Amino acid sequence: MTLKPVRHYLQFRDLSRDEYAYLFRRTALIKARFKRYELHQPLVDRTLAMIFEKHSTRTRLSFEAGMHQLGGAAIYINTRDSQLGRGEPIEDAAQVFSRMVDLVMIRTYGHDIVERFAANSRVPVINGLTNEFHPCQVLADVFTYIEQRGDLAGRTVAWVGDANNMLYTWLQAAAILGFRIHFAGPAGYGVDLARAGFPVSEDEQACLRCFDDPAEACAGAHLVTTDVWTSMGFEAENAQRLKAFQGFMVDTGMMRRADPEALFMHCLPAHRGEEVQAEVIDGPQSVVWDEAENRLHVQKALMEFLLLGQLPD
Ligand code: CP
Ligand code: NVA
Repeated sequence: MTLKPVRHYLQFRDLSRDEYAYLFRRTALIKARFKRYELHQPLVDRTLAMIFEKHSTRTRLSFEAGMHQLGGAAIYINTRDSQLGRGEPIEDAAQVFSRMVDLVMIRTYGHDIVERFAANSRVPVINGLTNEFHPCQVLADVFTYIEQRGDLAGRTVAWVGDANNMLYTWLQAAAILGFRIHFAGPAGYGVDLARAGFPVSEDEQACLRCFDDPAEACAGAHLVTTDVWTSMGFEAENAQRLKAFQGFMVDTGMMRRADPEALFMHCLPAHRGEEVQAEVIDGPQSVVWDEAENRLHVQKALMEFLLLGQLPD
């Protein structure tokens, strides 16, 4: 018997355009069933282990609730109170976890940790955020855009602020799904095309345009998005970043420059008065609560896909 190769979801580029088309259709179906209170339990008796080395509200809630709703069980492990926090090699942990559970989600610091775990795992591994990428969030964000405005292909996403794990994931999505990224961030915090270990591909570079003026980056954009100025793991730089990012808060003036139908997104948690003005995140163009909710639905489709492959409606 030939075993099917294990599929992991560590970066947005781990799935193809066609697989995303399937996943977004499947998400819509799973969400509609959930809203009608219909049971959808293809993962009865399956177990998800969730390993957290950084804080989380949405990621834990959506994976744990999602696995429960799919008929399975989820186990929360914090590196601080497991042997992972006492130096057990990640490769050994992967061997053990993947003999006991069917799926693993990891939120950690360096991306090499999820890669080393996946290389030693018999079961699919999902990246729940690393310093380098946050694919589950962009999956939810793209689905949210499609749900509210249709296909993102050919449209423009403006990113104002830090070139962080979210921005680099958006760049991968742009190359796969065919849209443009307009980036604006302060000097010293811009896109690093030669990022160590994760250089931005030529396809991704072709989707990217960088601006000094954030209002220019937002001009005509169909989606304006941002994120915290200091990501988890970079807290020591907070004071310096607060100064450097002055002038890069998404405000109503920038939203007025965008397309009249533009949406505003933020992966949350947000800091009103820093990276986004309260009037924008709490205003009519903001879809941040839909984005957060859609983490649940897209990740249910993702877990189902990684374990069972593509299913008929
Ligand atoms: N957006 C996001 O991943 O939220 P949490 O950090 O709360 O999981
Ligand atoms: N860029 C942020 C996202 C938090 C969900 C971080 O990595 O902290």
